[in-house]
Amino acid sequence: MTRLLYPGSFDPVTIGHMDIIRRAARLCDELVVAVMHNPEKAGALPVQKRAELLERACEGIANVRVIVHGGLLIECAAQVDATAVVRGLRPLGDFEAEYQMAAVNRRLGGVETLLMTTSEDVAGISSSIVRQIAAFGGCIDGMVPEGLAQDVAAALARGSGKKEENPWTNESR
Ligand code: COA
Repeated sequence: MTRLLYPGSFDPVTIGHMDIIRRAARLCDELVVAVMHNPEKAGALPVQKRAELLERACEGIANVRVIVHGGLLIECAAQVDATAVVRGLRPLGDFEAEYQMAAVNRRLGGVETLLMTTSEDVAGISSSIVRQIAAFGGCIDGMVPEGLAQDVAAALARGSGKKEENPWTNESR
């Protein structure tokens, strides 16, 4: 059984993430999408909200499972018994960081990483762009998965995951 692991902050999920999720799900028996902690990012949405939005976005894709994991990526990969990790690669700026992350995860945990190039039509969309537009009251329709724009905007307005007490669990939802 081929099981790919797609980790990210998903703060919030965008159509860029969904592009990778849809395409990666076609390449494996199961795609596990893991909401994880990026220590370099403060976090805007509560972790469970990020996972809930992802679950709703992935409802129509049969072989996708969403989890939350607060540890190292190599631990998450071992826990779900992942064949490999998949990450999206945008045309500008992603390669160096993704290369380093892949190298460290292979060295530390023997985990292979597959880098999937982002589709051209979503390459300019990012979670921080969505957060910025929402903060100014702009329209984020078409940047986040269909049907989620209002909920994402409301959740961003409600505030930050920083106030959460130990939001990370390492269990499947
Ligand atoms: N198209 C367009 N944009 C995309 C995209 C795509 N296909 N895929 C991702 N993005 C954007 C996201 O919107 C996000 O935008 P932002 O920077 O404006 O917020 C950015 O690319 C990357 O975010 P995302 O992929 O959601 O998560 P991340 O890069 O923050 O995730 C972790 C990093 C969580 C996987 C990493 O920090 C990790 O492994 N953490 C666990 C701890 C660990 O093991 N650390 C050691 C790793 S070597």
